[in-house]
Amino acid sequence: MGNRLIVSNIGLLATPLGCRAASGAAQGQISMRSHAYLVAEDGVITAVGNGRVPESLMQGARHIDAGGNLVTPGLVDAHTHLGFGGWREHELAMKRRGVPYLDILAQGGGILSTVRMTRDASQKALTEKAGQALEAMLHLGVTTCEAKSGYGLDRQTELKQLAVIRELGRTQPVELVATYLGAHALPEEYKNRRADYIRLLTEEMLPLIAREGLAEFCDVFCETGVFTAAEAEQILRTALAHGLKAKIHTDEIDAIGGTELAGMLPAVSAEHLIAATDRGILALAQGGTVAVLLPATSFYLGKPYARARDMIAAGVPVSVASDYNPGSCPSLNLQLVMNLACWNYGMSPEEVLTAVTLNAAAAICLADRLGSLEVGKQADLVIWDAPNLDYIFYRFGQNLAKTVIKQGRIAAGALPHQPETLA
Ligand code: NIG
Ligand code: FE
Repeated sequence: MGNRLIVSNIGLLATPLGCRAASGAAQGQISMRSHAYLVAEDGVITAVGNGRVPESLMQGARHIDAGGNLVTPGLVDAHTHLGFGGWREHELAMKRRGVPYLDILAQGGGILSTVRMTRDASQKALTEKAGQALEAMLHLGVTTCEAKSGYGLDRQTELKQLAVIRELGRTQPVELVATYLGAHALPEEYKNRRADYIRLLTEEMLPLIAREGLAEFCDVFCETGVFTAAEAEQILRTALAHGLKAKIHTDEIDAIGGTELAGMLPAVSAEHLIAATDRGILALAQGGTVAVLLPATSFYLGKPYARARDMIAAGVPVSVASDYNPGSCPSLNLQLVMNLACWNYGMSPEEVLTAVTLNAAAAICLADRLGSLEVGKQADLVIWDAPNLDYIFYRFGQNLAKTVIKQGRIAAGALPHQPETLA
């Protein structure tokens, strides 16, 4: 017999179903099973049932009693800037005075100041810092996380950031997916040499990253004063030609064509989308591109909230993610993000659950293996300190994840019952 795990006495098992992003009405369809149990062998779900666990399955299994609580899939954070040096609390007063984000960047602050701190940090220091962030995420229920580079912008530091992601992917429980975001800003040393920087990305960095398998996705910050839609297209097409998949930061502040580009390529996901137009939303729907919305960034920058309801109505699959980074969202709390999405996007708890599980998994091309609790999927799950799904949107502001299981193993938190089964 393999390594069997049984989670019994689940008060409510709430999960989306399927191996693809859910859009439209399907985004709000959650399977709700009361008095359930779940069985996993070697980290993969082999049975989901109701009532008492059959005695024959209990033999030799590790057993967790969920204590009548809510169980959902492990949360997937599909958009983070995980590894960076330093912090930027010195920008707080400027932000409170209303100095626009892009003005801070244009003055050599913002992203560029984190670039300086990330270049100065050792790989060891970056690994330690990102590792602590992942531990905090895990305790909040996050079992998979996308992680972008983009605070090096030179060859050496981008590779250092990607090496940090790779190392952490091997040494701690949260599964990581790496995205190369060399086109996050124009580095200071290329200030008057845009074309040269784009050549560095397309002719040197992307082929190297693809060859070495250092990232699965390529992302571009397509925004006024950063990269144009034409530049984003050139970079992302090169990435696709090298076998990477495309993501794009777009319509965060101005709609300059990046969202239409995302739908046309199509990119796997388009992210931020605060200023998305009807045309942009239509393009996403046509391209089957996942909209990764970042409500904590709207909250922290005092910006409007993206048009989640219009996107869902148009058939765009919506995910929500943290955008954890030192500038526009210094919080990694995906539970807070879920609350913000519920209250500020007008998404139902069911739609938000899909957004942080199945659709988030689809935004990183892992929906065939992650994002729902059903036979054949990986046993990544959260036992909540909550009796039902509404409760985690109701008791906002504290960590309600009780026990976090990654690939059939307890990765964080206390056992609700039977502490002797921890081994
Ligand atoms: O997704 N918008 C671009 N990049 C990040 C912010 C990076 C920073 O301010 O350091 C974002 O919000
Ligand atoms: Fe971002």
